Amino acid sequence: MALKFAIIGCGEIGGEILRNLTSIPGSVVRITRRNEKKGREIAAKYNASYFRDNKEAVRGVDVIFLTVRPSDMAGVMEEISEYVNAGQFLISTAAAISIEYMRKFFNENVISRYIPSPLITENGGVGIIAGDIPEKYSSIISGWSKKFHKVEEKDMHLYTILSSSGSAFISAALVNILDKLPCDDKDFCKKIVTDVIETTMSSVKGKGLDECRQIAEFCSTPGGITAEGIGVLNSENAKEIFSSVVSASLEKSLEMQKKFEK
Ligand SMILES: NC(=O)c1ccc[n+]([C@@H]2O[C@H](COP(=O)([O-])OP(=O)(O)OC[C@H]3O[C@@H](n4cnc5c(N)ncnc54)[C@H](OP(=O)(O)O)[C@@H]3O)[C@@H](O)[C@H]2O)c1
Repeated sequence: MALKFAIIGCGEIGGEILRNLTSIPGSVVRITRRNEKKGREIAAKYNASYFRDNKEAVRGVDVIFLTVRPSDMAGVMEEISEYVNAGQFLISTAAAISIEYMRKFFNENVISRYIPSPLITENGGVGIIAGDIPEKYSSIISGWSKKFHKVEEKDMHLYTILSSSGSAFISAALVNILDKLPCDDKDFCKKIVTDVIETTMSSVKGKGLDECRQIAEFCSTPGGITAEGIGVLNSENAKEIFSSVVSASLEKSLEMQKKFEK
């Protein structure tokens, strides 16, 4: 029998999930978002149905994806809780919002939290999941990511930062390096940077962190050009900056949990 899905809050991440769901033969997908025009456009593109009403959208589906922002989670869960029945499986992508808090709205359901790194469709990305997940859905969702990990919920703040934010941090660091280079032909410099990212990432593919260290060492002739820059990266100042990056994100995650789990 065809599986029925609802995506509540079909924005960026909801859209990625929609693209993946519609590749399941015979699947039926309903989506909601506040902007009706955009909702109808994305629904039409992927042969899904747009619903104006979240309560109507969740009625009778097998799986409910909650892909609104953390600040909107409480309102949406309160709105639909009476319309969700015990047999429906709920998956939230919202950063910071715990399963324990979701239980207050859905006390009989199987619930999980799913953090996909962005770009899950184009490049495969990394998928992190916590909580209970029925096997048949686990095998569907794991296929959306190149790397898929089941983790303990208590560590989700940390894994959100490593997976979802991690790819953003690496990209932002490289953009900062590029911005500081005195390039006359910015487009050509950008091409070199993206070529380097692509080839470096493919050479560490399937290998461990040591491989990354080895690349740094291999490219750094002692006393040479690269070694000079790596020295700065390994300096106390740089370590402090990286430590502040991680602390800022972790603190924000904890702050959001406190603020939005009301
Ligand atoms: N972006 C990422 O890379 C990423 C990665 C992992 C996890 N996440 C998590 O995924 C969630 C979504 O992130 P996002 O980047 O996709 O945000 P987003 O693009 O803003 O999507 C959220 C969507 O929710 C809709 N929405 C808000 N309130 C609603 C309501 N009451 N009823 C129906 N729809 C409603 C919004 O609709 P309108 O736009 O029409 O107002 C919007 O399209 C967040 O909780 C975030 O923590 C994001």
